[in-house]
Amino acid sequence: MVICPTGKALGAEIQRVDLRNIGDAEFEAIHSAWLDHLVLLFRRQQLSDDDFIAFSRRFGNLDWAPIQETGRRFVDGHPELYVVSNVVENGVPIGSLGAGEATWHTDMSYLEDPPKASMLYALEIPSGGGDTWFCNMYSAYESLAAPLRQRIQGLRVKHDGTYNSGGYVRQGVTAVDDPVTSPGAYHPLVCTHPETGRRALYLGRRRNAYIAGLPLAESESLLDELWSFAEQDQFAWGHNWQVGDVVLWDNRCTMHRRDAFDPASRRVLHRTQIRSETRPSA
Ligand code: SIN
Repeated sequence: MVICPTGKALGAEIQRVDLRNIGDAEFEAIHSAWLDHLVLLFRRQQLSDDDFIAFSRRFGNLDWAPIQETGRRFVDGHPELYVVSNVVENGVPIGSLGAGEATWHTDMSYLEDPPKASMLYALEIPSGGGDTWFCNMYSAYESLAAPLRQRIQGLRVKHDGTYNSGGYVRQGVTAVDDPVTSPGAYHPLVCTHPETGRRALYLGRRRNAYIAGLPLAESESLLDELWSFAEQDQFAWGHNWQVGDVVLWDNRCTMHRRDAFDPASRRVLHRTQIRSETRPSA
């Protein structure tokens, strides 16, 4: 097994590994590389749904996938699998997020207990577009000017549960565009990673975010300042997908977004969500 860092703010490719056959020592090396690099890429994998779920389970128990925008739960017999796809079969989308841009977010952070990690496995990939970008929220936090770092200590932010990152209203939720009253979960704006002990900005998603206790205008302006800082290229790395790629990321210290792609092409990925043993905490 070989670990090749991207040379960017985060991410490493793990080469010469078959995720269907991982011994304990190899798993420990992968786990430790993941904590060091935040996002790991494994190319040329050939996994069945069961293989993908089995590898995901090495990291912990799995959450059930969020319900698709149409109300359907995803892959029959595999409630853990979330399908990310623009493909429509017999008039029904087989997955979520369509073909448009998916804006920066952390998976399922509108829940009190969001998953610590997510893993995507690429089954069908268009010839262009649809790259997925990740950003390093440790670095974003550590690079903030000291007065701003000081100002955000102890604050809590609402992670909106109304819209997903593709802009679609979640199943069973009424669209609300008031950040103060929209549904969601409050988490500390700065969290300590339970495994590395490092502190990271925990922004979740911009739309309908709200900093508890602040007048709305003040919350908006502080969030705009933090978001424009965290979105800088210096904290990011973009992944250009190939069929057979597996990408694993740490939701506790990264965010991700996806470029739009041609809606006439097919893009199909399966995703698992690995449950956290601890709640986000300062
Ligand atoms: C996601 O946000 O989990 C999906 C990212 C992608 O479509 O690449």
